Amino acid sequence: MLSIKGVSKHFGGLKALKNVSFDIADGRVHGIIGPNGSGKTTMFNCITGLLEVTSGNIYLDDVEITGKKAHEISNLGIRRTFQQGKLVPSLTVVENVMSGIFDYGRNDIADTFFRVPLKESKKESVLKDKAMEILELLDLEKSADRWAYDLVWAERQFVQIARAVVSKPKMLLLDEPASGMGPIETDQVGELIKKIKSMGISPVVVSHDMKMLMNVAEMVTVLNFGDNIFEGTPAEVQKDPRVLEAYLGTE
Ligand SMILES: Nc1ncnc2c1ncn2[C@@H]1O[C@H](COP(=O)(O)OP(=O)(O)OP(=O)(O)O)[C@@H](O)[C@H]1O
Ligand SMILES: [Mg+2]
Repeated sequence: MLSIKGVSKHFGGLKALKNVSFDIADGRVHGIIGPNGSGKTTMFNCITGLLEVTSGNIYLDDVEITGKKAHEISNLGIRRTFQQGKLVPSLTVVENVMSGIFDYGRNDIADTFFRVPLKESKKESVLKDKAMEILELLDLEKSADRWAYDLVWAERQFVQIARAVVSKPKMLLLDEPASGMGPIETDQVGELIKKIKSMGISPVVVSHDMKMLMNVAEMVTVLNFGDNIFEGTPAEVQKDPRVLEAYLGTE
C-alpha cells in the first residue's frame, strides 16, 4: 500500500499540492482526477522521486520513500508512464521494452544501455524473452521489430506501458494513458489497465477520460487546485457536489 501523508509541493509561490493525504491500496485500480493544473502529474512526480516534496511523507508498505532517488523508488516497485509518451525513437519496440527492465523511463540510460555490452547475468536473449512475453500479453508482439519513431501516438502510449510493466512492479502510475486517443483505443487502454491489475500490479490512473476511468477505477481521489477534495468509489464521486463544482467551475 502507498500512503501519502500531508504532502505539499510548492513551486516558488505556486502551491501545486497542499497538504494532500490519501492511501492507495494494493490489488485494485485507483483513479486520480482533477481539472487541468490541479496537481495530478506533480503528485506522480513526488511519488516517483522526480520532484522533492516541500513537506509531508510518502510510504510504500510502511517504508518511507520520501527523499529517495527516482531509481531507488523504481527498484522498490513503483513505475510510471509519462503524459508525453517518452520512448527512445532510435530503438525498436522490443528494445524499448527491454530497457524497462533496468531504467525508469530515462531515455539517456536506455540509450547508453544498448551501446555497452550486456552483463553476463543479464544476457540479451533473456531480456528479449521477457520483453516479448510482455508484448504478447499486451497484444503488441506484431510490432516488436518496428522502430519507435515509426509508431503512431497511440502505439507509443501502449509501448510505454509495456516498458513500465516489464519489470513487474508493485504499482504502475499511468499519467493520461488515453490522451489523444479515439474511443476504440481508449477502450483498449481500459482493457489494458484491467489486464495489468490481473498480473498483480496495482494501477494508479490519471485520466481526463471520465467514461474510461469510472469504468476501470475502484477508488477515485479528486484533486482541485492542489487540494484533495474528495475520495470515494466512482459512483460516489460522480454525484458529489464538490466534484461537480470543481469541474463546472473551471469549464
Ligand atoms: N516544474 C514545475 N515548475 C513550476 N510549476 C510547475 C511545475 N510543474 C507543475 N507546475 C505547476 O503546478 C500546477 C500543477 O501542475 P500539474 O502538471 O501537476 O497539473 P495536472 O493536474 O497534471 O494538469 P494536467 O491535467 O493539465 O496534466 C500547475 O499550475 C503547473 O503549472
Ligand atoms: Mg498532468
